Amino acid sequence: MSEHESPAVTYGSYLQVDQLLELQQPRSDEHDEILFIVIHQVYELWFKELLHELDRVMLLLREGNGSRAQHTLKRILTILKVLVAQVDILETMTPLEFLTFRNRLAAASGFQSDQFRQLEFVMGNKSRGAIERFGDGTRARQGLEARWSAPTLWDAFLNYLQREGYPVSTAHLARDVTATVEPSTEIQQILIGLYRKDPKNSELCERLVDLDEGMQEWRYRHVKMVERTIGMKAGTGGSSGAAYLASTIGRPLFPDLWEIRSKL
Ligand code: HEM
Repeated sequence: MSEHESPAVTYGSYLQVDQLLELQQPRSDEHDEILFIVIHQVYELWFKELLHELDRVMLLLREGNGSRAQHTLKRILTILKVLVAQVDILETMTPLEFLTFRNRLAAASGFQSDQFRQLEFVMGNKSRGAIERFGDGTRARQGLEARWSAPTLWDAFLNYLQREGYPVSTAHLARDVTATVEPSTEIQQILIGLYRKDPKNSELCERLVDLDEGMQEWRYRHVKMVERTIGMKAGTGGSSGAAYLASTIGRPLFPDLWEIRSKL
């Protein structure tokens, strides 16, 4: 190989395995801390991939490509199943094992995961408070600011419905994308008609319900993991802990898709 040629790509160089394996830096010598770090890092990587796929779904919906959007949603849902299943691994760590290194976490908490907040933002659950926790100019702040003013998955879906010929009013199409998605009888009427006469698009709606239910499932498994590991102790991130987390379950992302079920 001449000095001008780049070295052959290998498994290690392509995936940057050396760098990747340097990223687990425990703050104690306790056995279980590596598991705790690895699992959080794996979650962050999946969050990155989910955001990447959600951006694609929104683009496909805006282009009116419902079948590709549904295909991508299926991938997202499969990843979400893995995220929920991974809770089982961390639940093999007992409360006492966690206590061997918990104090090393200081105020660090999943509460500070900006990618999780980005996922919430994409799915229509936005808050200024979540942005302001991150310093100006940081990657986290920039990512959240961009998603704050960007349309959500629900907005892309409403746009798609209109392209498919459904009479979505301008009030909904031009809604404030930073606001929480509120239930709407107008949209529910449209969806009821769609469910009765449009099997292709009702399948797409069902995938959005899967996503909504899947996120709630993750929240439920996370709060139960928290309860069995630290009971009702306060969180390292400064919240009341399990009580706070329990309050985040059961709020639907797409309320209209749930409301119509009692009316069909
Ligand atoms: C022993 C395991 C775990 C415990 C005891 C735990 C504990 C907690 C607690 C108490 C909170 C509430 C905020 C606070 O005051 O800290 C929280 C929030 C959070 N945790 Fe965990 N956690 C664990 C594992 C994980 C894992 C593996 C992830 C994956 C990324 C994760 C992601 C999050 C997220 C995203 C939040 C914010 C949720 C929200 O605000 O709705 N946690 N965690």
